Amino acid sequence: MEPSLAVDAPSTTRERFVLRRALALPASTFAEDVRRGLEASPKFLLPHYFYDALGSALFSAICELPEYYVTRAEDEILRTKAAEIAAAFGPNVRIAELGSGSARKTRHLIEAILDHQPSLDFFPIDVDAGILASSSRDLIRDYPGLSTTAICGDFRDPAALLRPYLPPSDTRTIVLFLGSSIGNLDPAAAGAMLANLRTALAPGDALFLGADLRKSPSILEPAYDDPLGVTAAFNRNVLVRINRELGGTFDLETFAHRAFYNEAAGRIEMHLVSKIAQRVLIDGYEIAFDEGESIHTENSNKYDVATLATLAAAGNFRIERRWSDSNGYFADLLLVAE
Ligand code: AVJ
Repeated sequence: MEPSLAVDAPSTTRERFVLRRALALPASTFAEDVRRGLEASPKFLLPHYFYDALGSALFSAICELPEYYVTRAEDEILRTKAAEIAAAFGPNVRIAELGSGSARKTRHLIEAILDHQPSLDFFPIDVDAGILASSSRDLIRDYPGLSTTAICGDFRDPAALLRPYLPPSDTRTIVLFLGSSIGNLDPAAAGAMLANLRTALAPGDALFLGADLRKSPSILEPAYDDPLGVTAAFNRNVLVRINRELGGTFDLETFAHRAFYNEAAGRIEMHLVSKIAQRVLIDGYEIAFDEGESIHTENSNKYDVATLATLAAAGNFRIERRWSDSNGYFADLLLVAE
């Protein structure tokens, strides 16, 4: 697809980077979601609100932590299996990426794809416009064959987000959903999201899905509760954001980071626990906390063969291939739209 700013330009001078705001309006605003979550019982906040500029930077720091094996495990897969993966994608593809962030791992795939096709259209999607702009500019500088249409929006309704930018084409569309971001959704919601995404795809198009695998709590828990406190800062930053953007009065000192593996549910849970009984004001309304009461800020679901099969089936995809890292910590799957 030609980037829309350049529809009349000759192909030699066409713009290779376009940043668009999602055409689909988000179903709700930050203010509405915060109020709904904090007035609920138990209290919760939605994890995609972690990612303001500071949150994205803190997540990048998490990816460098010795305890956070997730990024390194997937990077190993993409680095060592890129040629194989690109061959499985086929000869003539375009790629979209949900939650592209810095798109660092994506580079392995972009390079392997450009080894066998002269040009590639890339549609990165992220809630953080700043990281979209910087990553896209770096990518088009480094890969002359690449054109990027960056879409700023959250992907709760991925089909609505993608459809306006993915007109019918003779190229195979591959949607990348890396890093186990799918894990933020509980199994039913994850299945529904894949089914939604599937409606924007043609049969034979594919989803390349990264999924973190179930493993010992002794490996899982330090990855979400690191001794340096970076994950704690990432978690508590959502309160900083509420203070700044919604006029909240959270006292950061009074909320503790808590992360643990819920074995029965197969997920890491992150919470912010109020150390004292207190009231917090946000934009004219008040939220009361008991001592020890928590805000549930994130689930990070972990997968096994059975849960992945269920997920694929719920989305109307079939699992065509699967790659794993040498430790068996993480899997990337090629799911083909039925
Ligand atoms: C970006 C959702 C994949 O669940 O591992 C990292 C987010 N939270 N440390 C994850 C996260 C705390 C991360 N995902």
